[in-house]
Amino acid sequence: MAYENILVERDPAISTITVNRPKALNALNSHTLRELTQAVRECADSRVIILTGAGERAFVAGADIAEMVPMGPWQAREFSELGHVLTALIEDIPSATIAAVNGYALGGGLELAVACDMIFASENARLGLPEVTLGVTPGFGGTQRLVRLVGKLRAKEMIFTGDWVDARRAYEIGLVNAVVPREKLLEHCRSIGQKIALKGPLAVARAKRLVERGYDMTLRAANRQEAESFALLFDTQDRREGMSAFVEKRPAKFTGR
Ligand code: CAA
Repeated sequence: MAYENILVERDPAISTITVNRPKALNALNSHTLRELTQAVRECADSRVIILTGAGERAFVAGADIAEMVPMGPWQAREFSELGHVLTALIEDIPSATIAAVNGYALGGGLELAVACDMIFASENARLGLPEVTLGVTPGFGGTQRLVRLVGKLRAKEMIFTGDWVDARRAYEIGLVNAVVPREKLLEHCRSIGQKIALKGPLAVARAKRLVERGYDMTLRAANRQEAESFALLFDTQDRREGMSAFVEKRPAKFTGR
């Protein structure tokens, strides 16, 4: 499918989706949110999806402020829902998702990143939720997902002040997995993606679901789900292949069955 504001490189192992509005620092308008949702759906049979931003300066500098200026409450609600649909989809698909944060990840941009399974940042990255500066709250899940990553105290400081953090500080507070030189960022994300793509597909997809769903459950209920998943995987070819390969001292060849 042809897109206007995003670039999509689809591949069974690692797909890459790039937000491509560099003149607006890749800000997310409704059209881009719909395109991203469509593209993520299309790539959901890839083992890994990397999300990044075009140009030298930004991953995504937020929801599109120009589009929001004339909105009333009803349109704002619909706009917020577009962001929630996209971020929930990113969490629900079996693919592992990696945000390659190559510059500003502000507002909706950080909210997009924190919906991903991993975040790698370039040294020039700046991450924050500056929405209160505009008189609004975060609208694509930032008040919930940021808290879960960095804890209440740090999340509230970032949300109430609107201050952003640089890549080093983001690493210190557990907001990114690692900080990488800018020119190496995509290569680094792809090498992490390659590692994931070589592992058992059913196992990785199950593990993602267990982590995501378990978060909202009691520890006991979540552990019960883990035990069930563990047992179910014993009936798969991948499990037989993975364990046989170990015993035979050779790399496993998984088929996802
Ligand atoms: N929406 C629309 N356009 C944006 C944008 C955004 N979020 N961020 C940047 N742009 C545009 C600018 O308007 C500018 O366009 P023009 O050249 O046509 O004027 C272009 O991108 C370059 O930006 P600047 O000239 O501002 O670049 P800078 O280097 O001076 O500053 C910046 C960079 C600090 C990131 C600054 O652009 C900025 O503060 N952007 C807004 C960040 C923000 O507030 N994000 C949160 C949005 S609200 C939100 O996301 C709500 C939600 O949760 C759903």
